[in-house]
Amino acid sequence: MTNWLKDAVFYEIYPQSFQDSNNDGIGDFNGIIDRLDYIKELGCNAIWMNPCYDSPFADAGYDVRDYKKTAERYGTMEDLVRLFEEVHKRQMHILLDLVPGHTSEEHRWFRESGRAAENEYSDRYIWTDAWLMRADGFAYIAGECERNGTYILNFFKCQPALNYGFLHPDKPWQKAMDDPACLATRDAMRDVMCFWLDKGCDGFRVDMADSLVKNDDAVKSGTCEVWRDLLESVHTKYPEAVFVSEWNNPQSAINMAGFQMDFFLDWTGNGYHKLLRDYDESGRDNSFFRKDSDRSILDFLEEYLPKYEAVKERGFYCLITGNHDTVRAAYHLEERELKLAYAFLLTMPGAPFIYYGDEIGMRYLHLPTKEGGYTRTGSRTPMQWTDGINCGFSGADAESLYLPVDTDAGAPTVENQQNRADSLYYTVKDVLALRHAEKAFTQHDNLKILTAGKDLRSFVYQRDDLVFVCNPSGREEQVPWQAAAGEKLFEIGSVCLQKESCLAGAQSYAVFRCI
Ligand code: NOJ
Repeated sequence: MTNWLKDAVFYEIYPQSFQDSNNDGIGDFNGIIDRLDYIKELGCNAIWMNPCYDSPFADAGYDVRDYKKTAERYGTMEDLVRLFEEVHKRQMHILLDLVPGHTSEEHRWFRESGRAAENEYSDRYIWTDAWLMRADGFAYIAGECERNGTYILNFFKCQPALNYGFLHPDKPWQKAMDDPACLATRDAMRDVMCFWLDKGCDGFRVDMADSLVKNDDAVKSGTCEVWRDLLESVHTKYPEAVFVSEWNNPQSAINMAGFQMDFFLDWTGNGYHKLLRDYDESGRDNSFFRKDSDRSILDFLEEYLPKYEAVKERGFYCLITGNHDTVRAAYHLEERELKLAYAFLLTMPGAPFIYYGDEIGMRYLHLPTKEGGYTRTGSRTPMQWTDGINCGFSGADAESLYLPVDTDAGAPTVENQQNRADSLYYTVKDVLALRHAEKAFTQHDNLKILTAGKDLRSFVYQRDDLVFVCNPSGREEQVPWQAAAGEKLFEIGSVCLQKESCLAGAQSYAVFRCI
């Protein structure tokens, strides 16, 4: 495990919307540099930045046109390298977003690949061998290129799948994973990673990491084999490079593929979703941290714990406050609910990830789609820094902003949150300060659940000498957990140790050091 990860807390930056330094209405590298001290002060010491490469932006940059060029709107290569340096000056780290499964249809490799005449890139993507041939089980496209075949997509129409081969090819046009063309795709991606590690980034968040090998088996053993090869070779040259996968299967991602970290992703109905976003179309929300919910923490733990246990010796199964694909947690949760939710998420094992603006409770806005965002667009609005023009995001006219700023009365800003001692911002800051101060948080295989039950809303967990009590409900609860004695290190609401149990006030949370 890379040493700095043991104490890492990540801050995710959507570069479009973080800070505009040249008043063109869109965020940029220099703007991020200007805000590094803010991120550090909050208690985050690492950054994941969404794609910042040359792109037509049909999927917000997840459609890469040139992996080795920065998108002009964010700044130059020199600006980005300066960002890496400024991050490191502050003893922080930064991960770029690697998109290995597909490119933009405007990428030169794809243009070459679509030509009728065979060339170096003909098999860089997955093509059938006749224009009328269907690629069954896949989304595929015909009628766009001069080549006599259809090609497979990895996500949107603009994102043709790169060719890493099939686990068991059974059609003439399907290549084996060790076909020279598929090995060349691997080499091309290895080259991209080394390019950016040479420039000074610290690693990558890997987009759709599970999507490489086609017709893979349930545990994705083909894709895992590709990653083992890629990660082992990159680590030989850059032993400290860090990789976190967008996979949501840590047994595959960490134990088989060799990632150090994997995300617990927000999938409708899964254990993570039930914590913060469990609403149906009628708007009813039964997520665990709602004070009026009837959920027990078991709905989360039953899914989380087996995965955590399976990988805890080798890597992190990471929890997020949200990301650029989720609805903001503040959509349905009130400030107190968010405080408890974050206190929990930020004290769990693994490196937590805070999505920009979640620390102040930025809201989800109902907006028309932008750059392929669809319903995700409402979680990608500009960061709200001040109570001034455009909330301090940009000096451009409001109409030329990348997305509208939430200027509603009551919209949180860093400024108004910092002016209120009991704000969400300070809860996040205080919990992170505790996290960095206590040794128990640098161990990541030490989680024990002390009290949790079907009929209980409260739960108690432990990490070495620290015990955490959480009662998300709107009612006081007598929690069956008996501490010998304890020094209270942190508290929201009121939690009192009693003789044979503990009294957790409505919507309370506390951390004790147990003797
Ligand atoms: C997952 C990314 O998080 C999402 O934003 C993107 O649209 C897809 N992968 C496709 O790259």
